[in-house]
Amino acid sequence: MGRCPKCGAWDTMVEEIVEKTTPAAGHPRTGFGERSRPRRLPEVSGDVEERTPLPIEEFSRVLGGGIVPGSIVLIGGDPGIGKSTLLLQATLEMARQLTVLYVSGEESDRQIKMRATRILGPHSTPDPAGHPLPSPDVGRGEGEGGRGEELPKDLFLVTETNLDIILEHIEEIKPQLIVVDSIQTTYMPQLESSAGSVSQVRETASRLRELAKASGVTVFLIGHVTKEGAIAGPRVLEHIVDAVLYLEGDRFQAYRLLRTVKNRYGATSEVGVFEMRDRGLVEVPNPSEAFLAERMVNAPGSAIAVTMEGTRPLLVEIQGLTSPTTFGNPRRTPNGIDFNRLLLTVAVLTRRVGIHLAEQDVFVNVISGLKISEPAADLAVAAAIASSVKDIPVRADTVLIGEVGLSGELRMVSQMEARLREAAKLGFKTAIVPKRLRPRSGQPWPEEIEIVEARSLREALNKALVTKE
Ligand code: TYD
Ligand code: MG
Repeated sequence: MGRCPKCGAWDTMVEEIVEKTTPAAGHPRTGFGERSRPRRLPEVSGDVEERTPLPIEEFSRVLGGGIVPGSIVLIGGDPGIGKSTLLLQATLEMARQLTVLYVSGEESDRQIKMRATRILGPHSTPDPAGHPLPSPDVGRGEGEGGRGEELPKDLFLVTETNLDIILEHIEEIKPQLIVVDSIQTTYMPQLESSAGSVSQVRETASRLRELAKASGVTVFLIGHVTKEGAIAGPRVLEHIVDAVLYLEGDRFQAYRLLRTVKNRYGATSEVGVFEMRDRGLVEVPNPSEAFLAERMVNAPGSAIAVTMEGTRPLLVEIQGLTSPTTFGNPRRTPNGIDFNRLLLTVAVLTRRVGIHLAEQDVFVNVISGLKISEPAADLAVAAAIASSVKDIPVRADTVLIGEVGLSGELRMVSQMEARLREAAKLGFKTAIVPKRLRPRSGQPWPEEIEIVEARSLREALNKALVTKE
């Protein structure tokens, strides 16, 4: 069917073949299986949370502090974004303490070895001269020119897509960590549908989950995101696994963000920041600094927002550009913020501040490829647009934090203290923030940064834009 008879959407139906054989019948073949038996809670083993920390700090933090034995984690992302690279880097490090099996259905073991030598190897080149970022090596800091470390012995590679054979390998090698790259190429021969179909993906993932739960091995699944943005079709995998991480970023930019969407063992919306280099992904410990590195100070149309990604404040430059509409309806083009949020900001600027944008195309761009979903960046977006229309720069040493309401009022946002501290740390002198109407609670705001409170968007813009003498 081309069109869904229920919701009327086109091209959303997915073929799913009803399987004749029921693979779930009988005892699941996990290789480590034992019969279930109800136990009293105190009798259940494992009361202390055991985690194996990953040597890649950013990755570890996103997972909630390390890998949990018996957990199954899905890493999703667009093709070519760096999922295989990230997991190969992680397994190269992990294989120094655990036995690891890397199952690939996408690349040959030779290709994987080549990549591994490239990541660890002696041939890697030092940084291109003049790179602005502080860039310690992933894991240990052996300095420039490659670490030249030996390839770990306990990393097993196999190119295999048949799950039955994969399970045999698992039984034989008894790894503590398994990577399946990718779940879409893995199939169960008992099912009739082809690899990558909804039933295959669901069944193979369930089988691997049973294995993880029964035996305590940790399983990482790599999943490609389809055109519609869901992993393997209609989010079939998200409820099967314990954690879902997405590797995101602009393919044409070096930054990659690893974001938690779901995590049974930690906080969600944590984010790790990496940069893709010639030797794989390198952690970016000071993303704010990196994101602001190329900023042109005192250029109109640029404002600095402080957004929270999980528990971590990030400073990002927001650029706005307005230009007279030459044909038809004015265009609103957001990159990195929500389209409707942009429409709302434009409407508030027009109605409440009196900035006319009816005959202006408006473009907004979040530098770094970050996607901001929280409203705390509203004020910076509005200031970037206003600054561009008026051709007056926003004060260079100022950050803008606040949600914009429909009446043009400025609203308080969460975790202000952490945001202000990060701004102060990066040398910003002033923060324009919503006026506090309720008594202060929580931690005091830092004193190293001057706080300028504003009640409305209009007032905030007056204070943010450099006044012409
Ligand atoms: P890959 O991990 O194969 O992506 P995925 O598994 O998500 O499909 O990453 C492929 C891209 O990463 C490829 O375009 C080349 C780039 N890359 C580097 O820039 N440097 C490196 O050291 C490596 C290994 C890959
Ligand atoms: Mg890959």
